[in-house]
Amino acid sequence: MYCDKFCRPINYLRISVTDRCNLRCIYCVPATGIPLHNRNEILTYEEIVRLSRLATRLGITKIRLTGGEPLTRRGLVDLVRMLALLPLLDDLSLTTNGTLLARTAAALAEAGLCRVNISLDTMRPDRFSTLTRGGALKQVLTGIERAQEAGLTPVKINMVVMRAINDDEIDDFARRTITDGWHVRFIEIMPIGKETPWLTSRYVSTEEVRCRIEERLGLLQPVLLDDGGPARYWQIPEAQGTIGFISPISDYFCLDCNRLRMTADGRLLPCLFSDHEIELLPLLRQGGNDEQLQARFVQAITAKPPGHQLDKQITPCRRLMSRTGG
Ligand code: 5AD
Ligand code: SF4
Repeated sequence: MYCDKFCRPINYLRISVTDRCNLRCIYCVPATGIPLHNRNEILTYEEIVRLSRLATRLGITKIRLTGGEPLTRRGLVDLVRMLALLPLLDDLSLTTNGTLLARTAAALAEAGLCRVNISLDTMRPDRFSTLTRGGALKQVLTGIERAQEAGLTPVKINMVVMRAINDDEIDDFARRTITDGWHVRFIEIMPIGKETPWLTSRYVSTEEVRCRIEERLGLLQPVLLDDGGPARYWQIPEAQGTIGFISPISDYFCLDCNRLRMTADGRLLPCLFSDHEIELLPLLRQGGNDEQLQARFVQAITAKPPGHQLDKQITPCRRLMSRTGG
C-alpha cells in the first residue's frame, strides 16, 4: 500500500462518473446551471475500469462512485458489474441523491454494489423542492426503501446542516434512527466553490447539532465504529440506526485522510480543498502504458497536502462540488 508524505495510507478512491445532475441544490450549483463536459471529454467505462484496476494494484481497496448524480449516466449498472470483478477491490459503494434509485437499487445490488450513501437535506416535500430547485422528495424516500430491501446496507443518509434552512429538522432526522433504522450523518457545510460567504453564514457546528439532539432525545452514546471514513458515530439508546457526524470544519479530520478523488474528465485530485489536479485523460488516450498511468497516481498521492486550511481563511478551491463529487 502507498502512503503519502505524512504517512497516511491511501486506500480509497472516489470516482466521479459524471458532472451532470438532475437536481440543482442551492449550495452546490448556481440557478443558471453550470457548463458541462462533452461526452468525449469524460472517461469511458472501459477507461474507468482500467484506471481502477491500476489503482487497486497500488493499494486502493475501496472505491466509491459519485457525480454530479452518478445514476444519470446511462449504463451505470454495467460499470458496477465490471468494477465489482476487480480482484483486489474489497468495497464498492455509491453516493447518490436517491431520485433514480428506486428503479435501479435491485440491479445495482445484483451487479455487485455493496452499499449506498444518500444525500438528503430535508424531509419536507415543499422544502425539498425549493432546496433542490424542483426535486420530488417522494422519489428519494422510495429510493431509500428499495435500497434497504435490496440489501445495499447500511444505507447512510447524509444531511448537510444549514442554519435557518433545515436546522429545524435535526431531531426529525435523528428520530429516524429509532423509527426506521436509518444511519444518519450530519455534515458541517464547507465553504467550497463560488458562494463562500453564503455557505459560511449557514454553518452549524457538530457540537451544536449534538447538543440539540441531546436536549430533545436524551444523551447519545458513543459507538465504536470505524468505517474508514471521517465520521464519528453515536447512538440514541435502543435505536437500530446510528448518528454520525462529519466535521470538516470543527474537527481537523485531515489527519486520517485516506483518499484520492478522480473527476469525470480524468483528473486526479490530491485534496478536496485544493485546485491541484493531475491529468490522466491525455496520457490515457495517447497510448500511455500502465507504468506511466500508475506513476500519475503516485504523483497524486505524493502531492497530498497535510490538510485544508479553512480555519486560516485560505481561499478554498474554485471547483464546484458537482464536479468533484462530494
Ligand atoms: N458542504 C458540505 N457538503 C456538501 N455537499 C455538497 N456541497 C457541500 C458543501 N458545500 C455534499 C452533498 C452530498 C455530497 C456529495 O456532498 O450534500 O452529501
Ligand atoms: Fe444536489 Fe448532489 Fe446534485 Fe449537487 S450533485 S445538485 S448536491 S444532488
